Amino acid sequence: MSILSGKNVLLGISGGIAAYKTASLVRLFIKAGANVQVVMTPASKEFITPLTLSTLSKNPVHSSFTNEDDDNGVWNNHVDLGLWADLFLVAPATANTMSKMANGVCNNLLLATYLSAKCPVYFAPAMDLDMYKHPTTLASFEKLKRFGNIMIPATSGELASGLVGEGRMAEPEDIVTFIENDIVSKLPLKNKTVLITAGPTYEAIDPVRFIGNHSSGKMGFEIAKAAANLGAKVILVTGPTNQNVSHSFIDVKAVVSAQNMYDEVHKHYQNVDVAILSAAVADYKPKEVALQKIKKKDTTLTLQLEKTKDILASLGAIKTNQYLVGFALETNNELENAKGKLKRKNLNLIVLNSLNDKGAGFKGDTNKVTFIDKNETITEFQLKSKAEVAKDLLNKITEQIDA
Ligand code: CTP
Repeated sequence: MSILSGKNVLLGISGGIAAYKTASLVRLFIKAGANVQVVMTPASKEFITPLTLSTLSKNPVHSSFTNEDDDNGVWNNHVDLGLWADLFLVAPATANTMSKMANGVCNNLLLATYLSAKCPVYFAPAMDLDMYKHPTTLASFEKLKRFGNIMIPATSGELASGLVGEGRMAEPEDIVTFIENDIVSKLPLKNKTVLITAGPTYEAIDPVRFIGNHSSGKMGFEIAKAAANLGAKVILVTGPTNQNVSHSFIDVKAVVSAQNMYDEVHKHYQNVDVAILSAAVADYKPKEVALQKIKKKDTTLTLQLEKTKDILASLGAIKTNQYLVGFALETNNELENAKGKLKRKNLNLIVLNSLNDKGAGFKGDTNKVTFIDKNETITEFQLKSKAEVAKDLLNKITEQIDA
């Protein structure tokens, strides 16, 4: 999964030969998981058809203030388009369109949308080499950069005119990588490593049986995604679950038992900035694991259990600079129990979920949590999706590690 996954990308196409490359650009954004809408200048339609772009983007393409296919003259709302976008990329950005952007000219939908957009704006110039070097073009670059717009420089190579030099629009792959890197470089958890545990553990009884629990792993996986989306490098140590994640920043380490989880977590702990232990680790495991399948003989079977290692407490005991987060699932005397765990295990933050709250807990898609930090500041949240809870948690951690 790319950092662009789920992002709303508005692609503005102006009229240059490089417009033909925008078909690939749209495909790459879609492949990265982004939602794409396209706004075109009238001139760009000479170089690539709106049908191609609407098919690839899976959205209608806009090029005029009213919808020309619609007799009712429905207004294409540039303000809505600008507000919808998480990022606006003008590619190719011709000398003409850039000059208009730099000077507030607003005589087509792309330009009106540019003036309405509140999101980051990227522009990828494309033109012939003499145009690229002309003082007016250079002035447009400078002005747009001064406005906070981000330039994706053209490259050198053979140009449509046959001349060789600077002015070729960056290749679609390079444009997407440029934007991904730019987004990541501004994220609050860039350069941070976050270790997360998730899911249940299975404690073997014999070769075919185990003691487990109903943890789905969903909360831990959502935390991993939220951390990765803030730019962190994530090590996700997970017990057996049906969850899947594919994100370039998330390294999944699959484990089975509490001991496996303990070993894997300790391999990484010294090198992480944050550790969030959301796994539902078995507290006890069979003292002896039968080497052969246990046969049914008597009416009752007694298994002797022994305590597993408390991973969270073991990390608290050797903590240096790590920000350590634990979870507490309580049924009674919740706040006091959670505060007790926070202190005993030397945590920076504990996330309390009470089994008394409807919608909180193991299996569902929602959770209702309360954060208690080291200073005993208590923040209570409403019932939310686990994805939202994960975002709240990462926001809290980001605030605290920056403070
Ligand atoms: N935890 C852990 N290793 C264990 C048991 C628990 O790392 N062997 C972690 C969980 O991931 C969670 C926290 O400890 O972050 C709290 O787990 P919980 O079972 O609620 O608390 P316990 O400390 O085990 O206390 P109790 O069972 O008495 O409530």
